[in-house]
Amino acid sequence: MSKVVRYGLIGAGNQGTYYTKDIINNGVVKNAKITAVCDNNPAKLKRISEILNNDEIKYFENYIDLLDSNLVDAILIETPHYFHPEIAIEALKRNIHVLCDKPAGVTSLEVRKMNEESLKHNCLFTMMFNQRTNSLYKKAKELVEEGKLGKLQRVTWIITDWFRTEKYYKSGDWRATWDKEGGGVLINQCPHQLDLLLWIVNKNVKSVRSFNEYGKFHNIEVEDESTSIIEFEDGVTGVFVTSTGEFPGTNRLEISGTKGKILIDSNLDSKIYLFENEQDSLEYSKVTDEAFPKLKINKQIVETDGTNPQHKEIIRNFTEAILGNEKLYVDGKEGIKQVELMNAMELSGWKGGEKVTLPLNEVYYTKQLILHRLSSKDKKSNNEVLDDLSKSFGTY
Ligand SMILES: NC(=O)c1ccc[n+]([C@@H]2O[C@H](COP(=O)([O-])OP(=O)(O)OC[C@H]3O[C@@H](n4cnc5c(N)ncnc54)[C@H](O)[C@@H]3O)[C@@H](O)[C@H]2O)c1
Repeated sequence: MSKVVRYGLIGAGNQGTYYTKDIINNGVVKNAKITAVCDNNPAKLKRISEILNNDEIKYFENYIDLLDSNLVDAILIETPHYFHPEIAIEALKRNIHVLCDKPAGVTSLEVRKMNEESLKHNCLFTMMFNQRTNSLYKKAKELVEEGKLGKLQRVTWIITDWFRTEKYYKSGDWRATWDKEGGGVLINQCPHQLDLLLWIVNKNVKSVRSFNEYGKFHNIEVEDESTSIIEFEDGVTGVFVTSTGEFPGTNRLEISGTKGKILIDSNLDSKIYLFENEQDSLEYSKVTDEAFPKLKINKQIVETDGTNPQHKEIIRNFTEAILGNEKLYVDGKEGIKQVELMNAMELSGWKGGEKVTLPLNEVYYTKQLILHRLSSKDKKSNNEVLDDLSKSFGTY
């Protein structure tokens, strides 16, 4: 292979345009170039061909033609979520490296097939979990792994700063529909936080109860507010709150253990606070004579390297991994964990907050989703591409 990775983009909408125009075409990522683009909407193809303005790039309306063109070493999957596993599987079968945007798919059943296919081939498969490149969350994971918090007890993430308007929901016919998107805030905005939560806590989820509100703030059929109670293994409890109808929202992660807690509030100051107990609180509780003790706490802002390179770092690392120069940062197969948790949250929500246990009954979930898809209403939209995506990424 040459020293430059030849990329094919599949799905030339908002996100695909951002990666090709602002990241790859601008030379932000070295050793990468766009050689082919596919979109099944000819108007989108025309639009991106004018933006990229490069005669060497070939354009396709059918992604299979792009994959068979011999023009690409790797693809970026930037279509609506239902297509992610299907396109990834076809690419992997042709030994084409895959960078799939989040979420890995709509159901863990489909994502499982994609993971199984990836094991059969000697090509790289990664997910666009760009928020894993934020030094704050990398540090949080490090602190948990080092045992700084002792035995983990509780994790709370309030992520309600995903404010979205009717204009946003009208911008695509697939958005916020059961049939073409497969969910609402949980599937569109929250894959990042659900992935980070599972990545940092690094424990299996045993069960979840979710209270979801459908079209509470917007004229949509899917959830735009969700509150979940999560039971992890080893007695760790979790609360996850999200909304696209709250302003100003909150992006606050708190993780507590017997030796202390960490707090990251990205709306306040984007720093990581570590509160360390002078000793393990539950050990102390067993031996102390005091009824209402206040242990001494060492509170500090933990230094990080301050980096937060996001999407460009995932594409850079993927490129260098393909060229054999680096290890892949995100194993694509991990995308299934976040999808399974999200599916459990949807299922519990549909059942009015009933407890759903994991591993999820994937076939049952898929059947329930089909029922929702059948009741889905067609949406009229001009499928416009939105300007200034930078405001859409939330607080990193
Ligand atoms: N990582 C992030 O920060 C981030 C941010 C936003 C969106 N995303 C993800 O990117 C993906 C795309 O989102 P978007 O906002 O760009 O959507 P979009 O609607 O703007 O773009 C999707 C494009 O895919 C095209 N398309 C649909 N089906 C296709 C098919 N079968 N073959 C080829 N093209 C097809 C559509 O015509 C459209 O142009 C979603 O999965 C979304 O979750 C990721």
